[in-house]
Amino acid sequence: MVTKELWIELQLKVIIHNRLMNIIDKIINNFKNNKSLYIGEKVTMSEHMIQSAMLAEKAKCDDNLICSCLLHDYGHFLLENPDELVQNNLDGEHENVGYQYLKKFFDQKIVEPIKYHVLAKRYLARDKKYLNFLSVASKISLKLQGGILNDQESKNFENNFYFKPSILLRKFDEAAKNPNIKIKSIYDYQKLLNSKLI
Ligand SMILES: [Fe+2]
Repeated sequence: MVTKELWIELQLKVIIHNRLMNIIDKIINNFKNNKSLYIGEKVTMSEHMIQSAMLAEKAKCDDNLICSCLLHDYGHFLLENPDELVQNNLDGEHENVGYQYLKKFFDQKIVEPIKYHVLAKRYLARDKKYLNFLSVASKISLKLQGGILNDQESKNFENNFYFKPSILLRKFDEAAKNPNIKIKSIYDYQKLLNSKLI
């Protein structure tokens, strides 16, 4: 005999499970259907994010960072028109949009480096070599994002618990713009995404 309490508990479990499965379906659909080019580059947004994850895998990073890389620009999928924002000199704060949305579903270890990947760019841009290496579009967005960090801001960031993974994510992010490599399918990461849900 199923008690009322047990029945409610089972129903809640089903609702939570469906909600979590729906987010994975939604992410996969976004990756499959979004054909917009990564701002100023020759790869699509989806290819760019998958390529970041592939680079993290190649560097033997842990699963958390691979997942962070895979989802790091998810905020661009949620924003109406990221290209238009840049053209109009506006910063859509895609890192915060992505973070606020994804933190409802994924572990902190996944979403915190996503939140900080723009701060990591502003930190790394203190190095002239890195700054010169940035694409034209990335240099423009750097200004819109608040520009290069000063010494105090840099120190504060260095003391952040997520400093290292955020910097690593940024480096893979910068390198993930190659239009000439074979890109994995988003389905190759479905299991990983599922395993990182909260
Ligand atoms: Fe990116």
